Amino acid sequence: MEIADAARIIMQGGVVAFPTETVYGLGADATNPQAVHRIFEAKGRPSDNPLIVHVSCKGMASSVAEISSDAELLIDRFWPGPLTLILPKKQSVPEEVTAGLASVGIRMPSHPIALDLIRLSGVPIAAPSANRSGRPSPTTAGHVRSDFPHIPIIDGGPCKHGVESTVVRLGPLPAILRQGAIPIEQIREFLPRIMPSQYSDGKPESPGMKYLHYAPVAPLILFRHDKISSMKAFLKRNESATVLCPSEHAGEFPGHAIVPLGSGPEDIAHNLYSALRTEHKGDILVCLGIPPAGIGAAVMDRLERAARETR
Ligand code: TXA
Ligand code: MG
Repeated sequence: MEIADAARIIMQGGVVAFPTETVYGLGADATNPQAVHRIFEAKGRPSDNPLIVHVSCKGMASSVAEISSDAELLIDRFWPGPLTLILPKKQSVPEEVTAGLASVGIRMPSHPIALDLIRLSGVPIAAPSANRSGRPSPTTAGHVRSDFPHIPIIDGGPCKHGVESTVVRLGPLPAILRQGAIPIEQIREFLPRIMPSQYSDGKPESPGMKYLHYAPVAPLILFRHDKISSMKAFLKRNESATVLCPSEHAGEFPGHAIVPLGSGPEDIAHNLYSALRTEHKGDILVCLGIPPAGIGAAVMDRLERAARETR
C-alpha cells in the first residue's frame, strides 16, 4: 500500500502496518481512543500493556510528553532512531494508549516510510510490534501478513536492526526497561548513572516484559555461548533436534538440520525473528547463544524469553 493511502486510513481511525528501522509496527492515531482500541483487539494484546507513541519531530514529542533535560540530551543524540523514552504524559494522550499509566513511551523512528506516514497523518501514531501477542516480532511484510492477513501493510522490505527499540525510563534513577537496538554501553556515554531495570518483587516496570514472548512453534532450549560442549552432549541424546547457531559454528553439529543465524551480533539481530518464525522439522529447537554485549544483550534477552529453558 502507498504511504498516502495508509495516512488516510490512520486519519479515519483505522489500523495499518508499517516498517520501522527495528520491526514492523501496527499503527493507529494515538489521539483517538477507538482507533487505539482496534490495535489491542487485532493483536489480542492484554489491555494493561501500554503502547509506544511514534512522533516525527520534537514539537510533536512535546505535545504528548514532558521533555526533561536528560530526555533532551538523549533525544539530540539518538533520535531519529531506536530509543523509546518513558516520560510523564500530557493530556493529549488518552489512557487507552498508556494502559492507565501516568507515563508514556515515545520515540521518533528513523525509517523514512515511518516518518512520512506520521507527517502525512498529522498525528502521533501509537504502535506496538505488528505481531499477534506472544509471537515473534515481524521484520518483513510477509511476517505481518501471516499474523494479520486482512490488515493493510506498507511494504518497506526487511527491517534494518531486527530487534525492537531500547526502552529507557528517565527521572532521578534512570533505567533500561527493555534492552534493544541501541546498546546500554552507548546510552551510558551520555547518562553514566543509567542501570538495567531492577525489580525486587518480580514485577517488571515495563508491563510488556512479564509476558511470554517471541516463542517459536516448537520448544526451544537455549545454551549460552560458553556452553557449547554441554550443547553437543545434549544433541547426542536428541538426534532429531534442529540447531540454530551463529554461522561460524554451523559445521559443528553433524547430523542435525541447521538454521544459521548469521555472523556477528548485528547480523544475528537482523535475522533473529525470521529464524524463530521458520517452521522447522523436528520436535525441538536447540540454540547456541552469543555473548551478551552490545546489541548481543538484546538478542540474548529475546532468546531467553522465547526459550523454554536456558542452560
Ligand atoms: O522498536 C519498537 O519499539 C517497536 C516499533 C514498532 O516501534 N515497537 C514495540 O512496541 O516494540 P511493543 O508494544 O511491542 O513494545 C513496547 C514495550 C512494552 O514492553 C511496553 O510494556 C513498554 O514498551 N512500554 C510502553 N509504554 C510504557 C510505559 N508508559 N511505561 C513502561 N513501559 C512501557
Ligand atoms: Mg512487541
